[in-house]
Amino acid sequence: MQELFFTTSIPYVNGRPHIGHALEYIQADTLARFEKLRGNPVFLATGADEHGQKNARAAEKSGVTPKEHVNKTSALFKDMINQLNVEVDTFTRTTGDTHKAVCQWLWRQADAAGDLYKKSYTGLYCTGCEEYKQPGELVNGNCPVHGTPPEEQSEENWFFKLSKYRQPLRQAIERGDITILPTHRTKETLNFLDKAEDISVSRPKSKLTWGIDVPGDPGHVMYVWFDALTNYLTASRADLDKLTVERADFVRWPADLHIVGKDIFRFHTIIWPAMLLSANLPIPRQVLIHGFVNNRGEKMSKSSGNVVDPVPYIEKYGADALRYFLLRHIPTTDDGDFSDERFATVYDKELVNNLGNLVQRTLVLMEKNSIPISARHSEAASAAEESRDESGSEANGILRASGAQDDDSRSNLPDWYTEAFEKRDLAAALNGVMGEVEAANRQIDEAKPWITVKTDPAAATQALQSVHKYLQQIAYLLTPFLPVTAERLSDQLSTLKPAPLFPRMS
Ligand code: MSP
Repeated sequence: MQELFFTTSIPYVNGRPHIGHALEYIQADTLARFEKLRGNPVFLATGADEHGQKNARAAEKSGVTPKEHVNKTSALFKDMINQLNVEVDTFTRTTGDTHKAVCQWLWRQADAAGDLYKKSYTGLYCTGCEEYKQPGELVNGNCPVHGTPPEEQSEENWFFKLSKYRQPLRQAIERGDITILPTHRTKETLNFLDKAEDISVSRPKSKLTWGIDVPGDPGHVMYVWFDALTNYLTASRADLDKLTVERADFVRWPADLHIVGKDIFRFHTIIWPAMLLSANLPIPRQVLIHGFVNNRGEKMSKSSGNVVDPVPYIEKYGADALRYFLLRHIPTTDDGDFSDERFATVYDKELVNNLGNLVQRTLVLMEKNSIPISARHSEAASAAEESRDESGSEANGILRASGAQDDDSRSNLPDWYTEAFEKRDLAAALNGVMGEVEAANRQIDEAKPWITVKTDPAAATQALQSVHKYLQQIAYLLTPFLPVTAERLSDQLSTLKPAPLFPRMS
């Protein structure tokens, strides 16, 4: 089985990571863990976008060199990835030597294709986006993403012939060489593509030195996006130490999936594929575009002082609680709202009560009454089916899907689950799993084993064993979403030693 190559975007490291960065890491990790669960190896790449005006200005503000600044802030992003239990296989820093060599190689390829030329340009530059804005995009003269006025820049730049790739790229999209999700973003991409003009891809060193040198032009550094997008190629090599710029053996290329936010999707669906076509390299197979996490309906921004730091939530509630909230309560490809109260309510209701309590009461009753785990899963499964049929419960059948098997039941993922993942709808997949938790709760509430344990011990045993089996499947299906909880739950289910999965906070 060939390894899949997934990537997140690489954040600017001008400041601390926020909850939007956490969302992207968590989505990527969940998608990768799902593939691993069904037997597909995945290589997940992430990194840090360390050059450009935004980082240079942040360093200046802190009174340190850009390199000192990014050394410190990149580490914060790495720490957060670890704290969130996101399993990444490589972390590309764009200030690394290998990356520089790959960027210069790509630049030379574009040059050899006749796609680079120099011209003078005057435009409105938003440092927040690291992008020129068209006057028509501005809202009351401000950048629509950052709410700040762009600065007029007038300089001689290298330009990349993006317009040359309008047709080839349209054909590639229409042929399905690249899939853009959600699908309405495909239409948006095609609309933008029709109007795509050549783009500036360098800055004069007189204005900015914090970047990668343009080969053969000592007066210029590369535009930060040319440099940043190329991180995916850097990450795709098997042996990062042995780069020969003449040879384009990017071992893992093309990427199977780029996971990025809605503000930067055009860079990934238009500019990046065009750069690759220019270098005669295959384009990525899929781009998945997520929305924004807002704070109580408001866009987060430094100037409003409402940027949510995920670290206190991870420290108080655990990484899995934050993963749960962001995966289920922020729609996978849409904007969603975060607030302290919403988070606490979801934690109490869904994790402490619905899931935690179910596990606790099942295992406590089994432990107290020395009820063993069902010896034969198939029996438990059919018992569960019967009791479900009797109760008219609407459980969507994970037991049925795997009940006939024994130890191998784990490889059998229900269709609804796989389908939701294949559509990249993580919220739908997790909703399905929580639907199973609710069905298991209904089953135990109806069977009332805490009463029948005295009046009809055989019925109590059967009911508890059936819920136990249900929980084994739930633990398995939770693995990509809540890896730590899934493992703890699995352990408790085999040892029959209950311990609260989610401590009560209120
Ligand atoms: N450095 C570029 C990406 C280069 S990729 C070759 C960049 N960095 S960023 O730090 O501004 O954003 C990194 C990712 O975080 C992007 O995918 C962006 O959409 C995402 N988010 C930034 N704010 C966000 C929210 N409020 N909510 C969810 N994700 C958001 O762009």
